[in-house]
Amino acid sequence: MRVITASNYGGPEVLRVEERPAPQPQADDVLVEVKAAGVNLMDIYARRGMLGMFSLPLSLGVDGAGVVIAVGDRATARIGDRVAWEGVPGSYAEVVAAPSERLIPIPEGVSFEAAAGGLMQGMTAQHLCYEAVPVATDAVVLVHSAGSGVGRMLTQLATRRGARVIATVSKSHKASSASDAGAWRVLVRDEIEDLGAAIRELTDGEGVEIAFDGTGKTLFDMSVSVLRFNGVFATYGFAGGRIPPIDLGAQPSGVHLVRYSSSVPAESIDQRRQRAVQVLRWIEDKTLDVLVDRIYPLQDAGSAHRDLESQQTVGKLLLIP
Ligand SMILES: NC(=O)c1ccc[n+]([C@@H]2O[C@H](COP(=O)([O-])OP(=O)(O)OC[C@H]3O[C@@H](n4cnc5c(N)ncnc54)[C@H](OP(=O)(O)O)[C@@H]3O)[C@@H](O)[C@H]2O)c1
Repeated sequence: MRVITASNYGGPEVLRVEERPAPQPQADDVLVEVKAAGVNLMDIYARRGMLGMFSLPLSLGVDGAGVVIAVGDRATARIGDRVAWEGVPGSYAEVVAAPSERLIPIPEGVSFEAAAGGLMQGMTAQHLCYEAVPVATDAVVLVHSAGSGVGRMLTQLATRRGARVIATVSKSHKASSASDAGAWRVLVRDEIEDLGAAIRELTDGEGVEIAFDGTGKTLFDMSVSVLRFNGVFATYGFAGGRIPPIDLGAQPSGVHLVRYSSSVPAESIDQRRQRAVQVLRWIEDKTLDVLVDRIYPLQDAGSAHRDLESQQTVGKLLLIP
């Protein structure tokens, strides 16, 4: 079977196709034939050596969808099951071994592409706006990078909860994707000189209740500056670089700054599975629309990384083995 690996950290050129024997499933494990693997900024951070948990040699990819082809003695999945997963290293591969508890059945009406494209980002968005910072009906919420990924899912779910979402995207070709996701207003950052002023104007000078921001240092100061009193700045990623150390005394008074990551402390595997099942149901009933932008053959993982890093793509990129 072919897998994408890297023996050094670096640019997309470090990615290699490697031929390996298919693994044997351990007792609780399942072997899955990968039908679609997600390409994430997280994979790019792993490739660059920015995430300590990914050591060399790298087996890239963490999410995907496929069909169970072999099961260990104690595995609960069955051969032929259509399943999706997140948090399984080595997903850029023709076959992946995963603990059966990480595999979520894909509802009949959901394609492999939609499941691979929507599960992980949907779960992140669901956690952020339902549990971490529950979005209230009629809240005014700022969501950055709303044309793709978590930002687009946040826009859909916050709108569903009755909020008005002020979405931002970096470039004009991403604006319609954010509007389609339900954004109340879409601001194109490259075309606006004073983004803070534009957001204050939209909120009659009040500011926003919540700012969801996966850009890291790029929009930190601006996002915090447009919070209303008691507003919450929620950072969940650093697409534009890590936020430098914060001088608390220099922040506006009465605002809350919180950081989230994709892992939820104290969440049991059953709770995580329930959230995954919910997200796949939302994909099935169209509560969540999954936008897949580009599809690449497995061996073109390097091109997929280059495209994602270009910041031009709108929607999920997938590898099809
Ligand atoms: N995927 C998850 O479940 C998950 C979980 C936890 C954390 N995160 C983090 O959240 C952030 C966004 O992830 P995602 O999965 O939503 O990503 P994505 O679907 O691949 O979207 C990336 C978006 O990030 C924005 N961006 C800003 N600066 C960028 C840069 N320098 N290079 C590329 N894109 C840039 C772009 O939108 P604009 O051009 O409109 O700004 C782009 O469309 C990342 O830092 C990621 O690590 C993701």
